[in-house]
Amino acid sequence: MNHSSTVYLETFGCQMNELDSELVRGHLRSLGYRFTDDFTKADVVLYNTCSVREQAENKAYSRLGLVGMRKKAGEQVILGVLGCMAERDGIDMLRRFPQVDLLCGPGELDRLPALIDNVRRTEGAAREERVALAGSKSRRSATLAAAEDHLELLDLSRAFEPTDGGADRRSAYVRITRGCNKFCTYCVVPNTRGAEVHRPPDSIVDECKRLVAAGVIEITLLGQTVNHYRYSHGLAVDSEGREQPQVGPGLAAFRAPIPDGQRVTTFARLLQRIHDEVPALQRLRFVTSYPRDFGDDILDVMAGCPRICRYIHAPAQSGSNRILKAMNRGYTREEYLEFIERVTSKLPDCTIAGDIIVGFPTETDAEFEETVSLVRAVPFKNNFIFKYSPRPGTVAIDRFEDDVPTEVKKLRNNLLLDIQTEVSRRVHESWVGRSVPVLVEEIREHGAAAPADPDSALSLAMAHPESKKIELRWNRRQATPRAGLQAIGRTPGDLIVAINLDHTTVGAEGAQALVGTVVEAQLTAAAPLLLQAQLVQ
Ligand code: SAH
Ligand code: SF4
Ligand code: F3S
Repeated sequence: MNHSSTVYLETFGCQMNELDSELVRGHLRSLGYRFTDDFTKADVVLYNTCSVREQAENKAYSRLGLVGMRKKAGEQVILGVLGCMAERDGIDMLRRFPQVDLLCGPGELDRLPALIDNVRRTEGAAREERVALAGSKSRRSATLAAAEDHLELLDLSRAFEPTDGGADRRSAYVRITRGCNKFCTYCVVPNTRGAEVHRPPDSIVDECKRLVAAGVIEITLLGQTVNHYRYSHGLAVDSEGREQPQVGPGLAAFRAPIPDGQRVTTFARLLQRIHDEVPALQRLRFVTSYPRDFGDDILDVMAGCPRICRYIHAPAQSGSNRILKAMNRGYTREEYLEFIERVTSKLPDCTIAGDIIVGFPTETDAEFEETVSLVRAVPFKNNFIFKYSPRPGTVAIDRFEDDVPTEVKKLRNNLLLDIQTEVSRRVHESWVGRSVPVLVEEIREHGAAAPADPDSALSLAMAHPESKKIELRWNRRQATPRAGLQAIGRTPGDLIVAINLDHTTVGAEGAQALVGTVVEAQLTAAAPLLLQAQLVQ
């Protein structure tokens, strides 16, 4: 079969999608496909999509329009929609967007090469030959279908050769849990990613070892609620005795002691194992944490393992108990604050990040004020703030009218952003004067980086949990633009640091060599989302 095709793959959404795209890329490469960054040069165009908010979907729809125009102009292009939107929209998407040739949900990505082949070999391939969707209902009822999970093979057969230069090959994601069982009322993820399934700890540890052997120094464990990772041994093994992925227990399991005689790997134990069994790994991180049932056992392991990053991303979503209940989050404002209290007392250096939704249906001004006071009470280094977006297929869209006007959502969003900026500034300022290890991700010319925006001497884009780019700006008062080199990187607590290299002996080549290494930096000044530093030589 001729696989001399050139593929363009663009990714939207969260880190799960980034990892999925990496695995898809590795899989297609191993079959002879080549990749391009220029979509006009590709004969297979793939979009790995996100459904979490309407805005995320709109971006993908506009891309479909662009490819549609190429096709109308007579070009032979195969267009595939992968990921959460494919799963959410389902075959309806084929009707509305006839230019789409194939659909592949996030739980079926191992079947992607077959789908592409089907489209290529049989013009007008039958619908079932170009659509691979899990259909959340069937997967949820088939509790142990996870054991026959072919997707696991995709993670296991991951290509370990570093494909991209720079910091990319130094940092990697490893999935520990797929899917989600929480059913927060606003959220599409349980529908698009299916039931929560935990990977066997041996597979995870093995994958970490192989990544580190290939040069990775930072691993981020991924799950929608990582602290609810739990693997019961001896329940799911294949014919050769290898443990298989298994469906997660209900929430009650986290509040009861582990039954006598049951051998369980908890999240705390998993962290400890990776830390101990992969000693060359410099940084072990994890996202996202669920504010409920984050046990002291996890905090104790973090405190005892210096290479586990003291960083917790635990979205509060709201500060109002009534709204938290309507969201089905399963904790109260008081429980959230108690959790943060435990974090800061056991790990005083730990940085805390979160997400907030403003304008959830029926949210009053007074309830929004409770969110404001929560944000003020917690030392959040940053919070991603989202305006509620009603999503088809969720409980919230059926149960509540989207009754907070757009203008009010915008106002609350901006107010909260201002308050978060104050809180972030305070947190960043508290670090000034300290010396910290920084994993360098890129070298920039500062001054030269000051673009059209007159307010910013330096603006840079860094990935955030949903890989939306955030703009970081030096305020004019805080840094004067000068031409010169800066190394940009992150502390173990995910604080972004810009290290001035002007007055050092590091030349341009030496600066490039810092990318992907950890350097010691003395923090000298703070902006709300950025620390300035000098290299400790
Ligand atoms: N599993 C993670 C979050 C995954 S989705 C957790 O529970 O913390 C990432 C973020 O998108 C959420 O934390 C939430 O703040 C936001 N989000 C999800 N659905 C949304 C919706 N319908 N409207 C607005 N924001 C939403
Ligand atoms: Fe969505 Fe809630 Fe699951 Fe997070 S925990 S992915 S917000 S359902
Ligand atoms: Fe989006 Fe799916 Fe991730 S909806 S946030 S890509 S799990």
